[in-house]
Amino acid sequence: MSTVNRQFHLAAVPVGMPKESDFKIVEAPLPSVAEGQILIKTAYWSVDPYMRGRITGVKSYADPIRVGDLMLGGSVGEVVESKNPSYQKGDFVMGMWGWQEYEVSTGKGMQKLNPQLAPVSTALGILGMPGLTAYFGFLDICQPKPGETVVISGAAGAVGSLVGQLAKIKGCRVIGIAGADDKVDHLVNDLGFDAAFNYKTVPNYLEKLKELCPKGIDCYFDNVGGAITDAVFPLLNLYARVSICGQISQYNLEKPELGPRLLTYVLVKQARVEGFIIMRFVERFSEGVMQMAQWLKEGKLKYREDVMEGFEIIPAAFIALLSGKNTGKMLVRAR
Ligand SMILES: NC(=O)c1ccc[n+]([C@@H]2O[C@H](COP(=O)([O-])OP(=O)(O)OC[C@H]3O[C@@H](n4cnc5c(N)ncnc54)[C@H](OP(=O)(O)O)[C@@H]3O)[C@@H](O)[C@H]2O)c1
Repeated sequence: MSTVNRQFHLAAVPVGMPKESDFKIVEAPLPSVAEGQILIKTAYWSVDPYMRGRITGVKSYADPIRVGDLMLGGSVGEVVESKNPSYQKGDFVMGMWGWQEYEVSTGKGMQKLNPQLAPVSTALGILGMPGLTAYFGFLDICQPKPGETVVISGAAGAVGSLVGQLAKIKGCRVIGIAGADDKVDHLVNDLGFDAAFNYKTVPNYLEKLKELCPKGIDCYFDNVGGAITDAVFPLLNLYARVSICGQISQYNLEKPELGPRLLTYVLVKQARVEGFIIMRFVERFSEGVMQMAQWLKEGKLKYREDVMEGFEIIPAAFIALLSGKNTGKMLVRAR
Protein backbone atom coordinates (compact mmCIF):
# COMPACT_ATOMS: atom_id res chain seq x y z
CA MET A 1 0.00 0.00 0.00
CA SER A 2 1.08 3.58 -0.72
CA THR A 3 2.85 5.54 2.02
CA VAL A 4 1.75 8.80 0.44
CA ASN A 5 -1.65 10.42 0.73
CA ARG A 6 -2.24 12.70 -2.27
CA GLN A 7 -4.50 15.64 -1.57
CA PHE A 8 -5.83 18.56 -3.59
CA HIS A 9 -5.35 21.91 -1.89
CA LEU A 10 -6.77 25.24 -3.01
CA ALA A 11 -3.91 27.03 -4.80
CA ALA A 12 -5.71 30.29 -5.64
CA VAL A 13 -9.13 31.85 -5.13
CA PRO A 14 -10.75 31.42 -8.57
CA VAL A 15 -11.82 34.46 -10.54
CA GLY A 16 -14.88 33.60 -12.65
CA MET A 17 -14.99 29.98 -13.81
CA PRO A 18 -12.39 27.98 -11.80
CA LYS A 19 -9.26 26.77 -13.62
CA GLU A 20 -7.35 23.57 -12.98
CA SER A 21 -4.39 25.70 -11.79
CA ASP A 22 -6.56 26.97 -8.90
CA PHE A 23 -5.94 23.56 -7.29
CA LYS A 24 -2.66 21.76 -6.60
CA ILE A 25 -1.68 18.25 -5.61
CA VAL A 26 0.15 17.98 -2.29
CA GLU A 27 1.77 14.72 -1.17
CA ALA A 28 1.19 14.22 2.54
CA PRO A 29 2.52 11.22 4.48
CA LEU A 30 -0.06 8.51 5.11
CA PRO A 31 -0.87 8.85 8.84
CA SER A 32 -0.57 5.74 11.01
CA VAL A 33 -3.70 4.23 12.51
CA ALA A 34 -4.02 4.56 16.29
CA GLU A 35 -6.22 2.47 18.60
CA GLY A 36 -9.90 3.34 17.92
CA GLN A 37 -9.18 4.56 14.39
CA ILE A 38 -9.75 3.33 10.84
CA LEU A 39 -7.88 3.93 7.59
CA ILE A 40 -10.14 4.63 4.61
CA LYS A 41 -9.12 4.47 0.96
CA THR A 42 -11.33 6.74 -1.14
CA ALA A 43 -13.39 5.02 -3.83
CA TYR A 44 -15.50 8.02 -5.02
CA TRP A 45 -15.17 11.78 -4.70
CA SER A 46 -18.18 14.00 -5.12
CA VAL A 47 -17.93 17.31 -6.95
CA ASP A 48 -20.79 19.68 -6.17
CA PRO A 49 -21.80 23.25 -7.09
CA TYR A 50 -21.69 24.37 -3.42
CA MET A 51 -17.90 23.90 -3.51
CA ARG A 52 -17.72 26.98 -5.75
CA GLY A 53 -19.25 29.03 -2.94
CA ARG A 54 -16.71 27.66 -0.45
CA ILE A 55 -13.69 28.87 -2.46
CA THR A 56 -14.60 32.55 -2.88
CA GLY A 57 -12.55 33.55 0.17
CA VAL A 58 -15.75 34.87 1.80
CA LYS A 59 -17.94 33.29 4.51
CA SER A 60 -21.44 32.39 3.29
CA TYR A 61 -23.38 29.77 5.27
CA ALA A 62 -20.08 28.00 5.97
CA ASP A 63 -16.49 29.11 6.53
CA PRO A 64 -14.48 29.45 3.31
CA ILE A 65 -11.82 26.99 2.24
CA ARG A 66 -8.68 29.15 2.22
CA VAL A 67 -5.67 29.02 -0.10
CA GLY A 68 -3.46 26.16 1.12
CA ASP A 69 -6.39 24.24 2.68
CA LEU A 70 -7.49 20.75 1.67
CA MET A 71 -10.54 20.84 -0.64
CA LEU A 72 -13.49 19.59 1.38
CA GLY A 73 -16.43 17.56 0.14
CA GLY A 74 -18.30 14.30 0.39
CA SER A 75 -16.47 11.05 -0.37
CA VAL A 76 -17.08 7.33 -0.19
CA GLY A 77 -14.31 4.92 0.72
CA GLU A 78 -13.40 1.44 1.87
CA VAL A 79 -11.97 0.64 5.27
CA VAL A 80 -8.55 -0.87 4.54
CA GLU A 81 -7.34 -1.10 8.15
CA SER A 82 -9.32 -1.01 11.37
CA LYS A 83 -8.35 -0.62 15.01
CA ASN A 84 -11.96 0.25 15.85
CA PRO A 85 -14.29 -2.64 16.78
CA SER A 86 -17.26 -0.93 15.08
CA TYR A 87 -15.61 -1.24 11.65
CA GLN A 88 -14.16 -4.14 9.72
CA LYS A 89 -11.78 -4.19 6.81
CA GLY A 90 -13.92 -4.08 3.66
CA ASP A 91 -16.68 -1.88 5.15
CA PHE A 92 -17.69 1.14 3.05
CA VAL A 93 -18.31 4.54 4.61
CA MET A 94 -19.37 8.01 3.49
CA GLY A 95 -17.91 11.13 5.05
CA MET A 96 -16.66 14.65 4.41
CA TRP A 97 -12.92 14.02 4.10
CA GLY A 98 -12.69 15.78 0.75
CA TRP A 99 -10.30 15.56 -2.16
CA GLN A 100 -7.70 13.15 -0.79
CA GLU A 101 -6.86 9.51 -1.41
CA TYR A 102 -6.92 8.36 2.22
CA GLU A 103 -8.47 9.41 5.49
CA VAL A 104 -7.74 8.31 9.06
CA SER A 105 -10.71 8.68 11.38
CA THR A 106 -12.42 7.37 14.48
CA GLY A 107 -15.54 7.01 12.29
CA LYS A 108 -17.24 9.96 14.02
CA GLY A 109 -19.62 11.74 11.64
CA MET A 110 -19.35 8.95 9.09
CA GLN A 111 -22.14 6.83 7.70
CA LYS A 112 -21.56 3.11 7.30
CA LEU A 113 -22.98 1.95 3.96
CA ASN A 114 -24.85 -1.19 3.02
CA PRO A 115 -23.68 -2.28 -0.47
CA GLN A 116 -26.61 -4.76 -0.62
CA LEU A 117 -29.10 -1.86 -0.49
CA ALA A 118 -27.67 0.10 -3.44
CA PRO A 119 -24.27 0.76 -5.03
CA VAL A 120 -22.10 2.68 -2.53
CA SER A 121 -21.76 5.65 -4.91
CA THR A 122 -25.46 6.44 -4.36
CA ALA A 123 -24.53 7.74 -0.89
CA LEU A 124 -23.20 10.80 -2.75
CA GLY A 125 -26.26 11.07 -5.02
CA ILE A 126 -29.79 9.77 -4.84
CA LEU A 127 -29.38 8.36 -1.31
CA GLY A 128 -27.14 11.20 -0.15
CA MET A 129 -27.09 14.97 -0.01
CA PRO A 130 -28.52 15.64 -3.51
CA GLY A 131 -31.36 13.16 -2.96
CA LEU A 132 -32.20 14.72 0.41
CA THR A 133 -32.07 18.18 -1.17
CA ALA A 134 -34.65 17.09 -3.75
CA TYR A 135 -36.80 15.35 -1.13
CA PHE A 136 -37.01 18.11 1.49
CA GLY A 137 -36.42 21.11 -0.77
CA PHE A 138 -39.27 20.11 -3.04
CA LEU A 139 -41.76 18.16 -0.93
CA ASP A 140 -41.54 20.29 2.23
CA ILE A 141 -41.15 23.69 0.64
CA CYS A 142 -43.34 23.36 -2.48
CA GLN A 143 -45.95 21.01 -0.96
CA PRO A 144 -47.05 19.87 -4.45
CA LYS A 145 -50.63 18.72 -5.06
CA PRO A 146 -51.91 16.36 -7.78
CA GLY A 147 -52.65 18.14 -11.05
CA GLU A 148 -50.41 21.13 -10.29
CA THR A 149 -47.80 22.38 -12.76
CA VAL A 150 -44.20 22.17 -11.54
CA VAL A 151 -41.25 23.82 -13.32
CA ILE A 152 -37.67 22.84 -12.52
CA SER A 153 -34.53 24.67 -13.63
CA GLY A 154 -31.24 22.76 -13.71
CA ALA A 155 -33.56 19.82 -14.32
CA ALA A 156 -31.07 17.25 -15.67
CA GLY A 157 -28.59 17.47 -12.78
CA ALA A 158 -28.30 15.44 -9.60
CA VAL A 159 -30.98 17.35 -7.67
CA GLY A 160 -33.24 18.52 -10.53
CA SER A 161 -33.63 15.09 -12.14
CA LEU A 162 -34.91 13.72 -8.81
CA VAL A 163 -37.23 16.68 -8.12
CA GLY A 164 -38.99 16.04 -11.45
CA GLN A 165 -39.52 12.38 -10.61
CA LEU A 166 -40.82 13.25 -7.13
CA ALA A 167 -43.26 15.67 -8.76
CA LYS A 168 -44.47 12.84 -11.04
CA ILE A 169 -44.91 10.58 -7.99
CA LYS A 170 -47.10 13.36 -6.52
CA GLY A 171 -49.24 13.47 -9.69
CA CYS A 172 -48.04 16.81 -11.06
CA ARG A 173 -47.44 18.05 -14.60
CA VAL A 174 -43.65 18.49 -14.80
CA ILE A 175 -41.64 20.81 -17.04
CA GLY A 176 -37.84 20.70 -17.01
CA ILE A 177 -35.32 23.27 -18.21
CA ALA A 178 -31.80 22.09 -19.08
CA GLY A 179 -28.84 23.10 -21.23
CA ALA A 180 -28.54 20.41 -23.92
CA ASP A 181 -30.79 18.52 -26.33
CA ASP A 182 -29.68 15.11 -25.04
CA LYS A 183 -30.57 16.24 -21.49
CA VAL A 184 -34.04 17.30 -22.67
CA ASP A 185 -34.46 13.93 -24.34
CA HIS A 186 -33.36 12.14 -21.13
CA LEU A 187 -35.86 14.10 -19.00
CA VAL A 188 -38.83 13.34 -21.22
CA ASN A 189 -38.01 9.86 -22.50
CA ASP A 190 -36.16 8.27 -19.55
CA LEU A 191 -37.49 10.13 -16.51
CA GLY A 192 -41.12 10.77 -17.52
CA PHE A 193 -41.15 14.59 -17.47
CA ASP A 194 -44.18 15.89 -19.41
CA ALA A 195 -42.06 18.38 -21.35
CA ALA A 196 -38.65 20.03 -21.27
CA PHE A 197 -36.66 22.57 -23.25
CA ASN A 198 -33.06 23.55 -23.89
CA TYR A 199 -32.47 27.07 -22.56
CA LYS A 200 -29.37 27.39 -24.75
CA THR A 201 -31.36 27.15 -27.99
CA VAL A 202 -34.81 28.51 -27.08
CA PRO A 203 -34.73 32.28 -27.71
CA ASN A 204 -37.69 33.36 -25.54
CA TYR A 205 -38.10 31.49 -22.24
CA LEU A 206 -41.32 33.28 -21.28
CA GLU A 207 -43.06 32.36 -24.55
CA LYS A 208 -41.86 28.77 -24.29
CA LEU A 209 -43.08 28.48 -20.70
CA LYS A 210 -46.46 29.96 -21.66
CA GLU A 211 -46.78 27.28 -24.33
CA LEU A 212 -45.76 24.42 -21.98
CA CYS A 213 -47.65 25.67 -18.91
CA PRO A 214 -51.09 26.72 -20.23
CA LYS A 215 -52.53 26.65 -16.69
CA GLY A 216 -49.67 28.69 -15.20
CA ILE A 217 -47.05 27.54 -12.69
CA ASP A 218 -47.92 26.33 -9.18
CA CYS A 219 -44.47 25.21 -8.02
CA TYR A 220 -41.04 26.35 -9.17
CA PHE A 221 -37.91 24.54 -8.00
CA ASP A 222 -35.02 26.84 -8.80
CA ASN A 223 -31.49 25.52 -9.19
CA VAL A 224 -30.10 28.24 -11.43
CA GLY A 225 -31.61 31.74 -11.01
CA GLY A 226 -30.86 34.48 -13.56
CA ALA A 227 -32.81 34.91 -16.80
CA ILE A 228 -34.54 31.52 -16.51
CA THR A 229 -36.06 32.41 -13.15
CA ASP A 230 -37.01 35.88 -14.45
CA ALA A 231 -39.18 34.16 -17.07
CA VAL A 232 -40.96 31.95 -14.50
CA PHE A 233 -42.24 34.64 -12.11
CA PRO A 234 -44.78 36.28 -14.50
CA LEU A 235 -46.47 32.87 -14.88
CA LEU A 236 -46.84 32.05 -11.18
CA ASN A 237 -50.36 31.11 -10.12
CA LEU A 238 -52.24 32.28 -7.05
CA TYR A 239 -50.52 30.86 -3.91
CA ALA A 240 -47.61 29.46 -5.95
CA ARG A 241 -44.62 28.08 -4.04
CA VAL A 242 -41.04 28.77 -5.12
CA SER A 243 -38.17 26.77 -3.61
CA ILE A 244 -34.82 28.51 -4.03
CA CYS A 245 -32.36 25.62 -3.97
CA GLY A 246 -29.46 27.05 -5.99
CA GLN A 247 -28.44 29.98 -8.18
CA ILE A 248 -25.71 28.35 -10.24
CA SER A 249 -25.98 30.88 -13.09
CA GLN A 250 -24.60 33.45 -10.65
CA TYR A 251 -21.78 31.48 -9.00
CA ASN A 252 -19.02 32.37 -11.48
CA LEU A 253 -20.04 35.96 -12.21
CA GLU A 254 -17.38 38.55 -11.56
CA LYS A 255 -19.96 41.35 -11.26
CA PRO A 256 -23.54 40.98 -9.98
CA GLU A 257 -26.11 40.76 -12.77
CA LEU A 258 -28.92 43.30 -13.03
CA GLY A 259 -32.38 41.85 -13.48
CA PRO A 260 -36.03 42.86 -13.64
CA ARG A 261 -37.92 43.62 -10.41
CA LEU A 262 -40.16 40.60 -9.91
CA LEU A 263 -41.60 40.96 -6.42
CA THR A 264 -44.85 42.45 -7.79
CA TYR A 265 -45.69 38.94 -9.06
CA VAL A 266 -45.05 37.53 -5.59
CA LEU A 267 -47.34 40.18 -4.14
CA VAL A 268 -50.29 39.91 -6.51
CA LYS A 269 -50.16 36.12 -6.68
CA GLN A 270 -49.60 35.88 -2.91
CA ALA A 271 -46.79 33.45 -3.70
CA ARG A 272 -44.32 32.04 -1.18
CA VAL A 273 -40.62 32.17 -2.12
CA GLU A 274 -38.34 30.31 0.27
CA GLY A 275 -34.64 29.57 0.21
CA PHE A 276 -33.20 26.62 2.11
CA ILE A 277 -29.93 24.97 2.99
CA ILE A 278 -30.28 21.21 3.26
CA MET A 279 -28.68 21.03 6.72
CA ARG A 280 -31.89 22.61 8.04
CA PHE A 281 -33.45 19.15 7.72
CA VAL A 282 -30.59 17.17 9.30
CA GLU A 283 -32.79 15.69 12.02
CA ARG A 284 -35.06 14.17 9.35
CA PHE A 285 -32.31 12.80 7.06
CA SER A 286 -33.04 9.15 7.93
CA GLU A 287 -36.71 9.65 6.95
CA GLY A 288 -35.59 11.10 3.60
CA VAL A 289 -33.06 8.34 2.85
CA MET A 290 -35.54 5.60 3.78
CA GLN A 291 -38.27 7.04 1.55
CA MET A 292 -35.92 7.66 -1.41
CA ALA A 293 -34.50 4.11 -1.04
CA GLN A 294 -38.04 2.71 -0.98
CA TRP A 295 -39.05 4.57 -4.16
CA LEU A 296 -35.78 3.48 -5.79
CA LYS A 297 -36.50 -0.15 -4.89
CA GLU A 298 -40.03 0.14 -6.26
CA GLY A 299 -38.69 1.50 -9.56
CA LYS A 300 -40.45 4.85 -9.03
CA LEU A 301 -37.13 6.71 -9.07
CA LYS A 302 -34.26 6.37 -11.52
CA TYR A 303 -30.84 7.96 -11.27
CA ARG A 304 -27.90 8.53 -13.54
CA GLU A 305 -24.26 9.01 -12.57
CA ASP A 306 -21.68 10.74 -14.72
CA VAL A 307 -18.41 9.20 -13.61
CA MET A 308 -14.91 10.42 -14.46
CA GLU A 309 -11.90 8.39 -13.38
CA GLY A 310 -8.72 9.06 -11.43
CA PHE A 311 -7.74 11.29 -8.51
CA GLU A 312 -5.85 13.74 -10.76
CA ILE A 313 -9.02 14.55 -12.69
CA ILE A 314 -11.06 15.93 -9.75
CA PRO A 315 -10.57 19.66 -10.59
CA ALA A 316 -11.43 18.99 -14.26
CA ALA A 317 -14.57 17.13 -13.14
CA PHE A 318 -15.53 20.05 -10.92
CA ILE A 319 -15.09 22.49 -13.84
CA ALA A 320 -17.05 20.15 -16.13
CA LEU A 321 -19.90 20.14 -13.59
CA LEU A 322 -19.99 23.95 -13.46
CA SER A 323 -19.94 24.00 -17.27
CA GLY A 324 -22.95 21.66 -17.55
CA LYS A 325 -21.10 18.64 -18.98
CA ASN A 326 -22.87 16.26 -16.56
CA THR A 327 -26.21 14.51 -16.73
CA GLY A 328 -27.22 13.31 -13.26
CA LYS A 329 -24.72 13.12 -10.43
CA MET A 330 -21.12 14.02 -11.27
CA LEU A 331 -18.61 11.75 -9.51
CA VAL A 332 -14.95 10.83 -9.73
CA ARG A 333 -14.02 7.18 -9.19
CA ALA A 334 -10.58 6.18 -7.91
CA ARG A 335 -8.54 4.00 -10.27
N1 LIG B 1 -29.81 24.49 -0.98
C1 LIG B 1 -29.10 23.41 -0.76
O1 LIG B 1 -28.93 22.95 0.37
C2 LIG B 1 -28.47 22.73 -1.96
C3 LIG B 1 -27.97 21.42 -1.87
C4 LIG B 1 -27.46 20.81 -3.04
C5 LIG B 1 -27.42 21.53 -4.22
N2 LIG B 1 -27.88 22.82 -4.25
C6 LIG B 1 -27.91 23.60 -5.47
O2 LIG B 1 -28.71 22.89 -6.39
C7 LIG B 1 -28.26 23.14 -7.71
C8 LIG B 1 -28.04 21.81 -8.42
O3 LIG B 1 -27.01 21.10 -7.76
P1 LIG B 1 -26.58 19.65 -8.29
O4 LIG B 1 -25.64 19.10 -7.31
O5 LIG B 1 -27.77 18.91 -8.67
O6 LIG B 1 -25.75 20.03 -9.59
P2 LIG B 1 -26.07 19.56 -11.07
O7 LIG B 1 -27.41 20.14 -11.44
O8 LIG B 1 -25.86 18.10 -11.18
O9 LIG B 1 -24.93 20.26 -11.91
C9 LIG B 1 -24.92 21.62 -12.15
C10 LIG B 1 -25.72 21.95 -13.43
O10 LIG B 1 -26.00 23.32 -13.45
C11 LIG B 1 -26.25 23.73 -14.77
N3 LIG B 1 -25.68 25.06 -15.02
C12 LIG B 1 -24.39 25.43 -14.96
N4 LIG B 1 -24.27 26.74 -15.27
C13 LIG B 1 -25.52 27.17 -15.55
C14 LIG B 1 -26.05 28.44 -15.95
N5 LIG B 1 -25.27 29.53 -16.13
N6 LIG B 1 -27.39 28.53 -16.16
C15 LIG B 1 -28.19 27.47 -15.98
N7 LIG B 1 -27.74 26.24 -15.61
C16 LIG B 1 -26.42 26.13 -15.39
C17 LIG B 1 -25.59 22.69 -15.68
O11 LIG B 1 -26.60 22.04 -16.43
P3 LIG B 1 -27.19 22.64 -17.81
O12 LIG B 1 -26.58 21.84 -18.92
O13 LIG B 1 -28.64 22.42 -17.66
O14 LIG B 1 -26.79 24.08 -17.89
C18 LIG B 1 -24.94 21.71 -14.71
O15 LIG B 1 -25.03 20.38 -15.16
C19 LIG B 1 -27.02 24.01 -7.60
O16 LIG B 1 -27.39 25.36 -7.77
C20 LIG B 1 -26.58 23.78 -6.17
O17 LIG B 1 -25.84 24.87 -5.66
C21 LIG B 1 -28.40 23.42 -3.14
